Amino acid sequence: MDWKALVPHTSKSIARSGEIIDREGGVLPGAMAIKYFPMAVERGQGSLVWDADGNRYIDFLTSAAVYNVGHCHPAVVEAVRDQVGRLQNYTIVYFYNDRPIRLAEELIRTMPGTFPKKATFAFSGSDGVDGAIRAARSFTGRRQVLAFRNSYHGMTTTSLSVTGIVGQAVKDRICPDPNVVFLEYPDPYRNSWGIDGYRDPEALTEAAMAAVEEAAATHRGDVAALLIEPAQGDGGMLFPPRSFMKALRELTEREGIVFIDEEVQTGLGRSGRWWAIEHDDVVPDLIVSAKALGGGLPLSAILGRAEILDSLPSPLLAYTHTGHAVNCAAAEATLAVIRAEALTEKAEEKGRRLADWFRERARRYPFIGDIRQRGLLMGVEIVSDRKTKAPDKAMALRISWAAWERGLLLITFGRDGNVLRLAPPLNIPEDLFVEALEMIDGALDDASSGRVSDEILAHLKGW
Ligand SMILES: Cc1ncc(COP(=O)(O)O)c(C=O)c1O
Repeated sequence: MDWKALVPHTSKSIARSGEIIDREGGVLPGAMAIKYFPMAVERGQGSLVWDADGNRYIDFLTSAAVYNVGHCHPAVVEAVRDQVGRLQNYTIVYFYNDRPIRLAEELIRTMPGTFPKKATFAFSGSDGVDGAIRAARSFTGRRQVLAFRNSYHGMTTTSLSVTGIVGQAVKDRICPDPNVVFLEYPDPYRNSWGIDGYRDPEALTEAAMAAVEEAAATHRGDVAALLIEPAQGDGGMLFPPRSFMKALRELTEREGIVFIDEEVQTGLGRSGRWWAIEHDDVVPDLIVSAKALGGGLPLSAILGRAEILDSLPSPLLAYTHTGHAVNCAAAEATLAVIRAEALTEKAEEKGRRLADWFRERARRYPFIGDIRQRGLLMGVEIVSDRKTKAPDKAMALRISWAAWERGLLLITFGRDGNVLRLAPPLNIPEDLFVEALEMIDGALDDASSGRVSDEILAHLKGW
């Protein structure tokens, strides 16, 4: 990032961050990043972070939906300190350790369904998806995976092959996999069938299911898994009709396909329920979790039907650091905080207020095209014309920059990079929540009244 070119456009001091930015370019490959702002994060506490120059920000990104309980929650810090001083980890591949067992017992209790369950652990959403697909293929003896366009599942080889938002040509070169079928995710706002899915969810379900049924029939007897995000996160926070999720469950049951509920971004209270799929009243076979699970430490989990996870031969779920004691301690504390602070309820309440607030602003700003929200899973789509719904990435980036300038971390995502991504900690205090709304108000005004220079846009890579 050419941070020096941005200096004339910001009132902040960014020189110390700038030094770090310059050093990064020399040693870290660009493929590791999709950069937004010229800031190096130095400190985090609760809903706030500070950069290397001492600038303060309210965090509406939470490191990509990681800090559901906020930065450095005292209970998480204490659990990590306690564990790290006794035993960092000893591989459970060869011996035993209580920590991952306690966490598995705790996590299993959160999953709907009365069947016997188990859980397994690794480090990232990507490896969680890989493991779930390995387990589904092992259990069924089949190869094909039904996945969705514009989905994001990760950057390990298998998870990349089922990620829809990355171009097929790149995947064909890097990780060719003939056993993945991509289907259209039924976005109620904008879809290829021209259906208004808010007004007529059943018609949208019918259209989307026709394609799923066809794919299942084409590969009958060879479909191992259906992999779906219950809300498509990086696709722009899309919520499919509930009837679609139910129809998918019926189809997978009928065809003996493993239903993998990919909750890396949506899980652990953010949607107002433990798991976003609970809104759909659907019981999946496997859930993949990561991001918020470790409370800031790298941890993923696959939980679900014991018979599916048990179908993998040893050591196909073994990693040296699997069930890492410190990470599991942090996760156990995180789950306890979600319960003790009633964070699912808080997510529901704050999310509803945030959506209502945006609905009110939509009367003033015609570029607010769609407001999508369940709990604090939220996206606001920015368009240049409400009738044509033409995506306006430039306006979304202007709002994002103006928010940053005012001290709020609010980035964009979505297939067209035009959706504002709102993901604060679930326990954001009221005063910071109100302050953030004021900042968004100012940012909408700055962006719409031409106070954000277009020169800035060339420097924000964005989705
Ligand atoms: C829905 C979803 N799945 C999987 C992943 C991959 O997780 P990780 O980056 O931890 O490997 C992400 C990351 O953004 C995600 O949003």
